[in-house]
Amino acid sequence: MKEKNVIVAGMQWGDEGKGKIVDYIASKFDAVIRFQGGNNAGHTVYKNDKCYKLSIIPSGVLTTNTINVIGAGCVLDIVHLNNEIEELTKNGAVISPDNLLISSKCNIILSIHKNLDCIHEELRGIDDKIGTTCKGIGPCYEDKVARRGLKLYDLYGETASLKKKIDILLMHHNIIMKGLEKPLYKVEDIISELSIISSLLPYIKDNDKIAEILSNRSMIFEGSQGVMLDNDHGTYPFVTSSNTLPNGIFTNIPDLLSSDDIKNDYMKLGVIKAYTTRVGSGLLPTEETGILGNYLQKQGNEFGTVSGRKRRCGWFDAVSAQYAIKIGKFSHIALTKMDILDGLDKVKICIGYKDKCDDITINDASETIPIYEELDGWGATHHAKSLDQLDNNAKNYIKRIEVLLGIPVVLISTGQENNDIIDLI
Ligand code: GDP
Ligand code: IMO
Ligand code: MG
Repeated sequence: MKEKNVIVAGMQWGDEGKGKIVDYIASKFDAVIRFQGGNNAGHTVYKNDKCYKLSIIPSGVLTTNTINVIGAGCVLDIVHLNNEIEELTKNGAVISPDNLLISSKCNIILSIHKNLDCIHEELRGIDDKIGTTCKGIGPCYEDKVARRGLKLYDLYGETASLKKKIDILLMHHNIIMKGLEKPLYKVEDIISELSIISSLLPYIKDNDKIAEILSNRSMIFEGSQGVMLDNDHGTYPFVTSSNTLPNGIFTNIPDLLSSDDIKNDYMKLGVIKAYTTRVGSGLLPTEETGILGNYLQKQGNEFGTVSGRKRRCGWFDAVSAQYAIKIGKFSHIALTKMDILDGLDKVKICIGYKDKCDDITINDASETIPIYEELDGWGATHHAKSLDQLDNNAKNYIKRIEVLLGIPVVLISTGQENNDIIDLI
């Protein structure tokens, strides 16, 4: 790759295979930086016959000599992070303050947030719930925007000033607890919950220090979730609580970018599955609830990495992908899970919605009934490493996607293993 920096982000409803793609290209860059979201993300990476589960730790952590940064804009559950480090280390990953840096500007996810996430979902009821991961992401971002959240740097200061901040936070949360007739939170409980931070202190750095370490290094900015889950531009309200678009780097981690970096146009690599999946509630125009949906779900092993929930599945939706490109300004595509469609007689691509406008964000199933184009299926793409190994029908499918989306497909993933990939970059 000749680009100094690249942004990798999802173009659908998450789980497109971003982790696999970031891990695949990581050795060509010096650093991988997360800039939004938290441990609602779940990336499964198969490498050297091992399976790794990453949630908040960037997907460069399995590559030697790569620096990984949990940047500002992310929300951090310190209890979870300790567990994630432990699990990955047990599995053979090497994680230390040399290859994992955490921005002191991250907001902290507390047990208050996790409880509230579950309570909100319960109160919405079965028909209206968002289907969140219940990791406290939404309530933590709410507190951040409301200016009562705690940031990692708050833990460095005087205890008296931390107590005051917790007082302000609890003023709000205890009103809710009172209304729900639940026990109230005490400042001491929060302080004791935060004491676990001590083992993480060596990882936490101010942004100036992180910028100094990253200066002149090549970087991958790793997005989590996907365009259709963006809080402003996705299928609201069935979205996550952060902005998931590539350009989030300019608002969340501007201090890690040099002015030269900003002038140069980054490669914006959109990751997209050869079909569509979604976990949680909300519109999914191409969803197949019958035999085909079950087939894709089983064949693709479509279970949420974080929640274990079955992912809803359907055909490739070119309309939502065109929207993702319009909003996300992607320049290139990494097409994943081609192998899951291997052996089907016919495959379909949604090329429009019947009668009405093509606005997918309206969340109205009656206005997003797909119009399909049918293509011939192909033999095997599984484990393919070069285009020559694909038959004409598989090549036609990729070509058709390129034509519909108007940007080049530069990576084609053909299996779960790190090296199951056709690299056209
Ligand atoms: P992410 O959140 O975008 O990183 O995606 P997830 O890891 O949540 O979900 C993608 C799943 O598909 C993971 O289990 C990957 O191991 C798997 N995967 C990624 N690319 C491919 C592929 O090309 N073929 C197959 N069979 N599996 C893939
Ligand atoms: P990665 O990075 C798929 C979904 C949840 C729910 C909605 C809101 O692995 O692609 P939240 O817990 O964020 O408040 O939930 O967003 N969601 C994801 N779906 N992949 C993810 O991340 C997701 N992160 C959140 O299922 O519908
Ligand atoms: Mg995932």
